Amino acid sequence: MSTVDLTAKIPNNVDLGQDKRLLRALEQWQPNYLGWWREMGPTDFQGKDCWLRTATSVDAEGWAHFDYVKMPDYRWGIFLADPLPDRRIGFGDAMGEAIWPVVPGEHRNTLRRLIVTQGDTEPASVEQQRMLGHSAPSLYDLRNLFQVNVEEGRHLWAMVYLLHSHFGRDGREEAEELLLRRSGNPDKPRILGAFNEPIDNWLDFFMFTMFTDRDGKYQLLALAESGFDPLSRTCRFMLTEEAHHMFVGESGIERVVERTAELMKLDRNGDARAQGGIDLKALQKFLNLWFALSLDLFGGEVSSNAASYFAAGLKGRAKEETYPDHQALGQTYRLPVPQDGALTEEDVPLRNAMNEVLRDEYVEDCQRGVDRWNKRLEEAGLGDRLRLPSKRFYRHIGIYTEMPFDPEGKLLTREAWEAGRNGWLPTAEDRAFVRTLMQPVREPGKIANWIARPARGIKGLPFEYEYVRLD
Ligand SMILES: [Fe+2]
Ligand SMILES: [Fe+2]
Repeated sequence: MSTVDLTAKIPNNVDLGQDKRLLRALEQWQPNYLGWWREMGPTDFQGKDCWLRTATSVDAEGWAHFDYVKMPDYRWGIFLADPLPDRRIGFGDAMGEAIWPVVPGEHRNTLRRLIVTQGDTEPASVEQQRMLGHSAPSLYDLRNLFQVNVEEGRHLWAMVYLLHSHFGRDGREEAEELLLRRSGNPDKPRILGAFNEPIDNWLDFFMFTMFTDRDGKYQLLALAESGFDPLSRTCRFMLTEEAHHMFVGESGIERVVERTAELMKLDRNGDARAQGGIDLKALQKFLNLWFALSLDLFGGEVSSNAASYFAAGLKGRAKEETYPDHQALGQTYRLPVPQDGALTEEDVPLRNAMNEVLRDEYVEDCQRGVDRWNKRLEEAGLGDRLRLPSKRFYRHIGIYTEMPFDPEGKLLTREAWEAGRNGWLPTAEDRAFVRTLMQPVREPGKIANWIARPARGIKGLPFEYEYVRLD
């Protein structure tokens, strides 16, 4: 078990004190990070006590400590999962060879790019969500938002540590850039599309944590397979924290569904909106949007980059050990490819379809969550169901880009698609309506009308607990 230095200026389990140069570089980056946090982190709640968990160890038992903390005082640290004894590269051309404790020269640029792209999403989501504290439906939810935010900040630390410790001067420059890009800013946007979309209401937030954080989970699982061991170890620990973010999204929507079902039954016409709730139709549209945006994050269906990452041992499949074969040579992936206004099945070499393989794992995981939401509807005696749209619907990356597929995956004419659009994706009116519901509820134990209470509070505490002290 690695030892954790919690008293250091930067808590860590990587023996930071032993490497004075690295320590100095990170200590110089730290005030810039805090400056970014103050400017772009959650607005107006920086001086409030929040009941937050802080990572203090990588031990599966009791890795985190819960207490009141003001967000700028949060102990952002660097934690790598413990090394696995005799770990070897588990896939690709270098299968079976020893893992790399340092970056191999020939993979330096590619690895830096992968790390920067992952790292960029972490502060981006904090920026996207910075106004949400003003409209939280309960103190419990407010606290969950801040928990997600501080941990995304820690994930930035995790990636910046790799950049500083393994990529020399370029790494340090990239670490600075990570603090300079801004979500949604046309002059210096964040790298990936979904991370430049505004998130100004809690429905978007729950959909984001359900679908977009889950993309993060699959990227981390694939990078946890990397032959570059420090990357693998940092991703393995990040996944521990990430699980809570997806819980916030999945259980958040589940509570909306539960409340919507109640309100539908209360209303003479079964209209949740008339009762101040979010109707299932609107929920479905937000789901369609965030699912499609998140699918794009996996990249193109056919990708020579994905093939070379796999071949080189840089990025594997999620839980690579569960696949029978780790070379992925001489195998194919069958893909419906648009051609002359129709879809024809094409067999793609499996290595080139690695993005699609990861996306399929992701879709299956999303489906499990949607099934859970539908269970709530079933229990309420309602016949309505939510569903994931086709992987081809509303895509902006890959072979289906900008093509008029409907949510069932059927290729329409452009006119027919435009005519259907308002029924599939949130309209300005839907957004305006959702915004009217976003009135903050700040009394402990109280909750907004449009969402059900959670089944339980945080870490054995009741829902009524004062998770954020506002006075
Ligand atoms: Fe993250
Ligand atoms: Fe996350």
